Amino acid sequence: MQIRLDKYLADMGVGTRSQVKQYIRKKQVLVNGSIPKGPEQKVERRDTVSFLGKVISWQEYEYFLFYKPAGCVSAVQDNYHRTVLDYFPKNHRKDLFPVGRLDIDTEGLLLITNDGELSHRLLSPKKHVTKTYFARVSGRVTEEDVQKFAGGLEIGEKKPTLPACLKILSLEAEASLVELTITEGKFHQVKRMFEAVEKKVLYLKRIAMGELKLDEALQPGEYRELTEEELMSLRKSTMQ
Ligand code: URA
Repeated sequence: MQIRLDKYLADMGVGTRSQVKQYIRKKQVLVNGSIPKGPEQKVERRDTVSFLGKVISWQEYEYFLFYKPAGCVSAVQDNYHRTVLDYFPKNHRKDLFPVGRLDIDTEGLLLITNDGELSHRLLSPKKHVTKTYFARVSGRVTEEDVQKFAGGLEIGEKKPTLPACLKILSLEAEASLVELTITEGKFHQVKRMFEAVEKKVLYLKRIAMGELKLDEALQPGEYRELTEEELMSLRKSTMQ
């Protein structure tokens, strides 16, 4: 890996590209203890880069489990709504993005990373990575609905949905609490599946993606780094 010094510092969240150029010019940045030639100087993994005496080590990939709250969009930039990245500090690395999308009103587990390859594999329709949702839906979900979800539903796509596992958790007078596991990620898929059995999703929360589970110790809007075990099992989910 060879990377421009200003990009290295900006990616590691030291500042914006123009801020870090200033820091380099002001001699606040050292590479292996020496003043670098300029922002364009190339650095490698084995180089020691410091800013105001603090070593800035290079982490190629980072993985965060984010509890997406309702009201924010699964994007890195939006002119009207808060984005998932608005929940990370301003000085955070600049190359993070959410893996896949949850609707603005959907809550729950969203993986935030800069690892494009893992993201691609998790989202690939060929990999059938499971996504599990908790939902409150209008009306009373029946065993017949469970069978229909298992058999595949027509939601206006070329093909019916792949078999999905619907579990009825409890029935209220006019609504039902359910858990649904799907292996696809079509646009508004869960909402459209319930529409196909004449029900409306009133509340939706993703609670798992592959082996990765939402950490209930997190509050909506909070995030934490994935553990090594979580990352390994998530990678495993994409190996089939
Ligand atoms: N299915 C939906 O309908 N919405 C989501 O946000 C996720 C899955």
